Amino acid sequence: MVSGVMTARLDVGWRERARCAARVVVALACGAVHAQPVPTYAEVAPLFAQRCGVCHSGAQAAASLRLDSHESIMAGGAKGPVVKPGDAANSELIRRVKGQTLPRMPMTGPPWLDSAEVLLLARWVDGGARPGRPGSAAAPPAPGAAPLAGEPVTWFHVAPVFARRCARCHTDGGSMGSAPEGYRLTSHAGALDAADRVRVVPGQPQASELLRRIRGQSLPRMPMDGPPYLSDAEVSLIERWIEQGSRGADGQPASVPAGAKVRLHGTLQPGPRLDALPLVIGPWSRVDKDVSLGRRTQVRGHVDGDGRVVVERLRDR
Ligand code: HEC
Ligand code: HEC
Repeated sequence: MVSGVMTARLDVGWRERARCAARVVVALACGAVHAQPVPTYAEVAPLFAQRCGVCHSGAQAAASLRLDSHESIMAGGAKGPVVKPGDAANSELIRRVKGQTLPRMPMTGPPWLDSAEVLLLARWVDGGARPGRPGSAAAPPAPGAAPLAGEPVTWFHVAPVFARRCARCHTDGGSMGSAPEGYRLTSHAGALDAADRVRVVPGQPQASELLRRIRGQSLPRMPMDGPPYLSDAEVSLIERWIEQGSRGADGQPASVPAGAKVRLHGTLQPGPRLDALPLVIGPWSRVDKDVSLGRRTQVRGHVDGDGRVVVERLRDR
């Protein structure tokens, strides 16, 4: 019996391996190599949901590739199938998570998938990329669900928008090579990074260049490859996220980065204000001669402890 199965395995390839692994008794007969059961979709679905779902789910899925159901994975994306059952080495999905085809996935990496996770996916594909048994564990919902009424907006809610519409460029090794302006939108820490200057001031939407850019108050409007720009619902979600303290995925509000530099663009209004944002101007502020009300203006300055913008320089832009 053992030799019979061995021969069949050589001839039939993955189908036989999958069958061999299906029962422990048979798996023993098939030899130690196949002692581990071949994973089904039920075992890989949580990995897709956690690491790929923000971009590869729903109607606007990146590369038109949805990784949120067995059928959609098998259907592939705009360029065709990404999984060849029984042949992990030649499956685009495996090549992407290994970095054999660039950009490497997940596009938000590093961190990439660890070797155990890559192996799990490869074993699933080599084993025939089988669906789970009917009624077996379904994939958990992908992140990006809208906040419930009364629930604060957190990174969990806004990250999918950044992932789908911004991370293609605002990441290392993205479609522009390095992240434009060194600004990465692939993590909460990246979005709030204050090393050069802050683009998000927690609690202060108007002082946040990010909001100005997605509204088109500051040019070039983002996403740079728009139109289409963000929908009103997406802009207002991001505005509420900033207003409510730019909370992380853990729900904790971020602190105002007192002393951090800002560089904002908008229209100078009486007050003086930049659009609706009051500006703190004093003898220390340098105001270029051609600056005038109603014109597009660049503000360089810093944020004080209360989140107010203290002007260091105003110039016509
Ligand atoms: C931040 C968004 C993002 C995340 C997260 C992400 N992807 Fe992608 N993915 C993209 C984009 C954008 C492309 C198109 C890039 C290109 O090929 O130019 C893409 C392309 C792909 C392709 C190639 C599609 C084709 O038709 O050739 C595969 C396969 C893929 N991703 C798999 C994954 C897997 C698996 C994960 C999770 C481990 C993942 N992606 C996570 C954004 C993402
Ligand atoms: C096609 C590539 C691309 C996409 C997509 C893109 N950006 Fe940009 N982004 C750029 C480039 C290039 C710049 C620098 C442009 C300039 O200011 O001259 C930039 C600048 C910015 C800045 C200003 C950074 C600073 O230091 O002042 C912000 C904020 C920003 N982008 C946010 C976003 C957001 C939010 C999205 C998604 C809604 C997005 N971008 C999508 C390419 C992109």
